Amino acid sequence: MRLLLLAGSGEARTIAERLAAMEGVEGIASLAGVTRRPAKLALPTRIGGFGGDEGFESYLCDAGIDAVLDATHPFAARISARTARICELKGLPYSVLRRNEWKPRPGDRWHFFDQEEEVAGVVPMEATVFLATGAQGLQRFANLGGRRVFCRRIDRPLAPFPFEGGQYVIGRPPFSIEDEIRLFRQLGVDWLVVKNSGGAASRGKLDAARELGIEVALMRRPPVPATTFHRTVEEALAWVHGLK
Ligand SMILES: NC(=O)c1ccc[n+]([C@@H]2O[C@H](COP(=O)([O-])OP(=O)(O)OC[C@H]3O[C@@H](n4cnc5c(N)ncnc54)[C@H](OP(=O)(O)O)[C@@H]3O)[C@@H](O)[C@H]2O)c1
Repeated sequence: MRLLLLAGSGEARTIAERLAAMEGVEGIASLAGVTRRPAKLALPTRIGGFGGDEGFESYLCDAGIDAVLDATHPFAARISARTARICELKGLPYSVLRRNEWKPRPGDRWHFFDQEEEVAGVVPMEATVFLATGAQGLQRFANLGGRRVFCRRIDRPLAPFPFEGGQYVIGRPPFSIEDEIRLFRQLGVDWLVVKNSGGAASRGKLDAARELGIEVALMRRPPVPATTFHRTVEEALAWVHGLK
């Protein structure tokens, strides 16, 4: 069986390793190509968009894909919705891995938002804001302009920060709670903005914020396609196993 693994999350990395060792499954991983030097996956990997709906349909056909496991990031809504729709049309098994969301713990000062543009409504002008939401979609926080804003990204930027008062901080995850506390103290952060991605690997920033009494703006997740979905890597692998 030839399985396409849509990658882009930490779990996809683990799944790739396990699929590489699974008998009866030929796995091919796919990355969007957003990060310039992505860490290598344990499966043969194609990089870059498929070229829209038509490009994706052709790819599925040309590569002889029998099933698709979607382990993209929980905020990559377009690729998941599109893949669910096309797999259903073609009668291909498709399922998605979505780890649990983070839930507040005692002492957390969390505020929830659906739209990036809403965050500026509660963050004072004198605040120092740390955007842990990545460089993609940064423009949607442009109304934070005028405040001191830091945005963390993996790659060095190729263009200046898109609005006034902003600076990039370069860093490649994972970050421990100690790393985050040191960084937030050094920058004088008093508001942290985070996507509710879930997972243990990137929770350090939230624990650091609680420790330092920092206010946190959490972006709520986009909806998951109406399909089979798994919460853990083991569940996702059991699904693949069941297809053989
Ligand atoms: N959004 C986030 O916060 C976030 C955070 C960390 C990592 N990521 C990862 O970065 C990638 C892009 O995120 P996004 O939010 O821009 O996604 P998106 O809005 O859902 O997808 C935009 C386009 O990127 C291409 N694409 C996305 N994932 C792909 C994959 N695994 N393989 C090949 N093409 C892919 C597709 O292009 P075509 O139409 O040309 O096929 C898709 O239409 C995702 O794979 C995601 O897992 C996203």
